[in-house]
Amino acid sequence: MCDNEKKLYACYDNIRKITDFVPKIAIVLGSGLGGFADDIEVVCAVSYKDIVGFPVSTVPSHKGQFVFGYVDYAPVVIMQGRVHYYEGYSMSDVVLPIRLTKLLGADTIILTNASGGINTDFKVGDFMLMTDHISSFVPSPLIGENFESLGVRFPDMSCVYSKELRDIAEKSAVQIGTKLKKGIYIQTSGPNYESPAEVRLYRALGADAVGMSTACEAIAANHAGMKTCAISCITNMACGITDIPLSHHEVEETGELVQPVFRKLLKQMILNISKESL
Ligand code: HPA
Repeated sequence: MCDNEKKLYACYDNIRKITDFVPKIAIVLGSGLGGFADDIEVVCAVSYKDIVGFPVSTVPSHKGQFVFGYVDYAPVVIMQGRVHYYEGYSMSDVVLPIRLTKLLGADTIILTNASGGINTDFKVGDFMLMTDHISSFVPSPLIGENFESLGVRFPDMSCVYSKELRDIAEKSAVQIGTKLKKGIYIQTSGPNYESPAEVRLYRALGADAVGMSTACEAIAANHAGMKTCAISCITNMACGITDIPLSHHEVEETGELVQPVFRKLLKQMILNISKESL
């Protein structure tokens, strides 16, 4: 077992000293979207900084904790805040929390993020169901010795975002009376936003939205055999699509504005997933 895999299991042992909770569904909350943790019946919370070796987020609005609890009867773990490649962590560290949720028992994961809209049919505040991604501009999180205990060396990526979960997301959106756009997400390293020329390039490549996370997490989740779904909140139009200069403040502000609907959507999705016991 390589050092990174040992570190993962050490983090697991650390958490197991605090709680024996076994989640079925993991949820990662992106920028400005952390409030969903208030909607669950909390059993316990574990701060990332209390897990030895765990990568701790430096993004101001990211709380940095696992929250364990129930949505109705569904046991869930929420990651309130994630770490990003641009914070200086290795890709293996960036996806460690995802793998940890799998070890803890989650077989399904819902990833959420804030992104810049490239598709001009999108508007600020829209939700985009990720149908696929482009991760070619960041290193694969699977580089290095393979974590044999989790998955194969050369995992297939033909359907990273589960069709069943996408259907559930669409059905859930209808049930709560909101619209869900669909599209392809491209991950960049960040932390700088893109230049207009880069956004034109990404558009030509087929991307509908751009962000600094998620695709790498989805790859790691897929590698570990987790059913994966991802929803992006278009918090701003990407650079050059409009003349408005980009700021993290705008990203957070939009996230806050759409939170009530977003929280409803997540809850409905979890109810439907547990009802269909996927
Ligand atoms: N670009 C990259 N990441 C982002 C953006 C963006 O425009 N908005 C929110 N996260």
